Amino acid sequence: MSEPSPPVLISESAIDARVRELAREISDDYSNGDGIVLIGVLKGAFIFLADLSRRLTIPRTIEFIAVSSYEDSDVSSGAVRLVMDVRGNIEGRDVLIVEDIVDTGHTLSYLIGMLESHGPASIRTCALLHKAERAEVEVNIDYLGFGIGDEWVVGYGLDFVEKDRTLPYIGVIDPND
Ligand code: IMP
Repeated sequence: MSEPSPPVLISESAIDARVRELAREISDDYSNGDGIVLIGVLKGAFIFLADLSRRLTIPRTIEFIAVSSYEDSDVSSGAVRLVMDVRGNIEGRDVLIVEDIVDTGHTLSYLIGMLESHGPASIRTCALLHKAERAEVEVNIDYLGFGIGDEWVVGYGLDFVEKDRTLPYIGVIDPND
């Protein structure tokens, strides 16, 4: 028996419209440069990055980075571990980090610090979703898709223990169900 689909929080067409707007804004802002490096944060940002990157009108290259949260109880919560670094040289380049969702802010804050050590010309951030009320560290999101409440969302790249990642819309689930 198939399980019911999660209820829709943000529809496919609303996501599409917002991604197009973000792509326009980013393309305008960087129109005088020599292109940007988009760094997608695996795994959750892979669909957002694919759609956003194809709608930009400026030169762009793609990199990926992977992180995971420390699950060891001896390590304070919020600590982030680098699982895979960027492969290309980003020194002197304009970098745009592309995240699926900013929750506590620890991941994005860690990534900004880590990528700064590679010597890029600039770093900006783009996130599809932000749970503002969950913030534990302050982190600037230059390009934001949607603000959402304190709820667990899936789809469009986001998962719950690897489930529902390829739903075409953003849905809400109860992780305790
Ligand atoms: P932060 O470090 O607390 O900001 O967490 C960011 C990461 O937690 C995201 O990149 C996601 O992988 C994951 N995450 C946080 N909230 C959700 C959610 O509602 N759905 C799916 N993943 C989430």
